[in-house]
Amino acid sequence: MIESSRAETLIRKGVINIIFYFSATGNSQYAAERIAKATDDKVISIGLALRDQRFEFDISSEERIGFVIPTYAWTVPGIVADFIKKAEFRGSGSQYAYGVFTCGENTGKEAAALRVLLQEKDIKLKASFDLVMPDNFILWTDLPSEERLAAIMASADLVLDEAIESIREKESNVTDSEAPEDLFMPLIDISSSQGTSKFFATEDCNSCGLCQELCPMECITLNSDNRPVWEGSCAMCLSCLHRCPMQAVQHGEETIGKTRYLNPYIKDHKVNAY
Ligand SMILES: Cc1cc2nc3c(=O)[nH]c(=O)nc-3n(C[C@H](O)[C@H](O)[C@H](O)COP(=O)(O)O)c2cc1C
Ligand code: SF4
Ligand code: SF4
Repeated sequence: MIESSRAETLIRKGVINIIFYFSATGNSQYAAERIAKATDDKVISIGLALRDQRFEFDISSEERIGFVIPTYAWTVPGIVADFIKKAEFRGSGSQYAYGVFTCGENTGKEAAALRVLLQEKDIKLKASFDLVMPDNFILWTDLPSEERLAAIMASADLVLDEAIESIREKESNVTDSEAPEDLFMPLIDISSSQGTSKFFATEDCNSCGLCQELCPMECITLNSDNRPVWEGSCAMCLSCLHRCPMQAVQHGEETIGKTRYLNPYIKDHKVNAY
């Protein structure tokens, strides 16, 4: 990986390729950063770009462009679809575009969905790689044991090594599979005041404000008691729930007593954290 200011200069000169990633609990960030380290490409956080309202990217001199994203409901997360729709990729057309889809079990039709979303931007998806990693959707399940988590990470690393080789060689593996009905998992409107949010903070909340800082959709604010309230368009990424240092964020009854998850290689809770 290349240090940020040098990377910006090189991007302007058209030397560096971009890897866009979205990550709530670090799996996709870890994968994107490993690819970047091996290719000298630069990572850009979709969450940060959305919060900064940054939608213009000049990719005219790039050879390849990557999208490293999680799987939501067997397709593309709504937040990623939203970003792609708003983004202008100047000079698109000739790049080798690839997707790396992290998931807990399987990715369904995510590659076909991303292919269709990118087509609108004149970006042709040439390759896709599925990466089974720890499943952060703890609303329906619980995390497996530490040993199982380590085994999942170890086999993900092997798959990632192979994917990196293919990306370097610009190998194609995407055929024109049929587009799925759901190109993305929709964002949902939630409101603490109207009772439509199942998110709440328990008494353990210490009012640190991290959840507000991290939410890529900016739908968390602190009330007059410095407690979080959820209002707005939610990506259901579960960043607020998994990253709360007090484990105070719950989603209804579904998450009470369940272990939280953060990719073990992501040390800093704040840098590129969404
Ligand atoms: C809302 C939501 C929906 C998910 N849907 C799926 C799914 O359909 N299939 C699957 O295998 N994993 C699913 N997962 C698990 C994530 O794709 C997986 O844990 C991913 O690696 C998380 O990436 P991140 O750590 O970069 O946020 C889902 C997770 C969330 C939060
Ligand atoms: S991150 Fe947790 S402890 Fe901090 S304000 Fe949010 S709910 Fe409270
Ligand atoms: S409220 Fe929580 S789950 Fe919803 S987008 Fe923000 S961080 Fe993600």
